[in-house]
Amino acid sequence: MKPALEVKDLVKVYGGGLRKSTAVTALDGVSLEVHRGRTTAIVGESGSGKSTLAKCILGLAEPTSGTIEIEGLDPIKRGQHVPINLYRTVQMVFQDPHASLNPRMTVGRSWESP
Ligand SMILES: Nc1ncnc2c1ncn2[C@@H]1O[C@H](COP(=O)(O)OP(=O)(O)OP(=O)(O)O)[C@@H](O)[C@H]1O
Ligand SMILES: [Mg+2]
Repeated sequence: MKPALEVKDLVKVYGGGLRKSTAVTALDGVSLEVHRGRTTAIVGESGSGKSTLAKCILGLAEPTSGTIEIEGLDPIKRGQHVPINLYRTVQMVFQDPHASLNPRMTVGRSWESP
């Protein structure tokens, strides 16, 4: 069965441009698969690229190279038809969970509400 999320050889370099000395390689060839019903944890020291990886998956940062497939579709490939609700299946809980989640709702109910 195809993974729910498949990341292959993802590279993200911030900055640089003409002044290559200022470039920061935040991701250097990250590959992972997340299968339906399974949990995957990314652990690493501060600055190791965890948030950058999540932002690339969500389309909030543009990868320098590599591919991302959510339910078999690349959400950033130009010209490819991507169902509008694809990102309903991928959500971010930002670092401060109190600001991201409604304490009056279960996570399940938060997900169902618009
Ligand atoms: N917008 C940006 N512009 C330039 N460099 C960035 C940017 N965002 C992150 N970086 C750099 O990319 C690297 C990875 O940062 P990232 O925030 O992804 O790490 P992290 O693992 O989430 O860290 P933390 O555990 O502190 O949240 C760091 O060197 C960081 O300084
Ligand atoms: Mg982070």
